[in-house]
Amino acid sequence: MILVDWLSMKKIQISPSILSADFSQLGNEIKKLEQGGADMIHVDVMDGHFVPNLTIGPPVIKRLRNCTKLPFDVHLMISPVHKYIEDYANAGADIITIHPEATEDLIESINLIKKLNKKVGVSLNPNTKLNIIDNILNKIDLVLIMSVFPGFGGQKFMPEVLEKIKSLKEIKEKNKLNFDIEVDGGINFENNKIVIDAGANILVSGTTIFKENNGNIKKNIDSLKLA
Ligand code: DX5
Ligand code: ZN
Repeated sequence: MILVDWLSMKKIQISPSILSADFSQLGNEIKKLEQGGADMIHVDVMDGHFVPNLTIGPPVIKRLRNCTKLPFDVHLMISPVHKYIEDYANAGADIITIHPEATEDLIESINLIKKLNKKVGVSLNPNTKLNIIDNILNKIDLVLIMSVFPGFGGQKFMPEVLEKIKSLKEIKEKNKLNFDIEVDGGINFENNKIVIDAGANILVSGTTIFKENNGNIKKNIDSLKLA
């Protein structure tokens, strides 16, 4: 691997999803993730409309904000999304990731997130083609590739998204872009290496981090990042 490649290589980061945490202890669970070496906290916001599940919103995120200094990697699985973006920015989100399938004007929403001085992510469902975001890749900080259909934790990883991750990595390198490639859904100790080798530099995981090895969070995070 030549030096330039090596330099452009990004450290593998882990963004644990609190969807799999004990919701009656969210503050303590976030503290345990921080102590276990999480790089950021993946907050799955679901509205029961864009996805068939309902989780938390700005008031809860605002309360959780004081529990950790780690970045909040907020995954908005809501539609409509544009009119709520500012609420999540004010609640303490650091990365705001939206689905193109949930907004009429993706550019307008991207510009709003940037105006609010937050990092902007765009998430693609497993059946959404890469080419719908070709023209905005130079405007965003992160692409979140869904390896399950969004809505629930504990689902099985869909290997057909590996080609999408590889294609995205090629586009990124060819155009010398710098966005992060984050993969979300069914990530475990069997598939983490193939996902990283395909081009991901951030892994989201809920079930594996909270449930494996009797819930040893540090061991699970270290194992996922191939530490
Ligand atoms: C699913 C969420 C994912 C999910 C990941 O809609 O976006 O972040 O919580 O959980 P696991 O790792 O259990 O698949
Ligand atoms: Zn998510």
